[in-house]
Amino acid sequence: MKKVFGVLGDPIEHSLSPAMHNAAFRELEMDCEYHAFRVRHKYLKNAILGAQAMGFGGLNITVPHKEKALEFTNPDTLARRIGAVNTVSFNDGIRGHNTDGLGAEMALLEAGVGINASNVVLVGAGGAARAIAFHFAEKGAGVTIANRTPEKAEVLAEDVGCSHAGLENLKELLQDSDILINATSAGMHPHIDSTIASRDILHPGLAVFDIVYNPLQTKLLHQAELAGAKPIGGVAMLVHQGAEAFRIWTGQKPPVEVMRNAVLEGLG
Ligand code: ATR
Repeated sequence: MKKVFGVLGDPIEHSLSPAMHNAAFRELEMDCEYHAFRVRHKYLKNAILGAQAMGFGGLNITVPHKEKALEFTNPDTLARRIGAVNTVSFNDGIRGHNTDGLGAEMALLEAGVGINASNVVLVGAGGAARAIAFHFAEKGAGVTIANRTPEKAEVLAEDVGCSHAGLENLKELLQDSDILINATSAGMHPHIDSTIASRDILHPGLAVFDIVYNPLQTKLLHQAELAGAKPIGGVAMLVHQGAEAFRIWTGQKPPVEVMRNAVLEGLG
């Protein structure tokens, strides 16, 4: 019988996950299908338990449910530390995982940028920044968090056990850094003229990774290119967090390029 997978969120109609995972299932000729489900916050527990009861193969959890999903799963150590779940597997009870940080690491790795022993300036202190900060710190990166609202950077840095600094000091911070990550929504459609950094504070040798993928070429990535830095777009993180979820659910090697093409096609 067909195995069903899905993503739970609200809103959910623009999710690229169904296209990405269904393309992977087709490529590997697996008898599986993946759907998007709009789930109201108050029904999240019912939805997760219902998916288990109905024999689902696995779930992704997206905005605004990632934090709440922690309560209804048995989270692994990383998801528990992050305080959010983006992937649920049913192979061993209801396990919660968080593949966002690994997705970011893989996006950098495929561009030839390793994170171990690198100096990373992470801008943002929301859910995405949290997942990246914990994973990168665990992998041996020296992380400094900067955020528009400095109090939030301070709280996150304390949780992770890393440094924090004011966003106004970005120029000085970047001078000794290998990687700049934008984990904010600055530059995301329709605010495409917004950027966390302009070309004059970027330098060759710096990898500039933007988690925003709509538009594909954000203003930050354009500034990075002008400065001779290495621009890395957010599609790679979206694809790799999905690929890691696929690996957890199925135990199979995910067809990453097929998944990437499905996402790019979905973005038009
Ligand atoms: P997510 O879960 O996607 O990370 P979030 O929790 O709403 O989203 O967090 C959004 C992050 O983007 C925050 O760090 C926010 O900064 P504040 O804490 O000051 O609100 C940051 N952010 C959003 N728009 C921004 C902008 N134009 N410039 C700088 N930071 C921005």
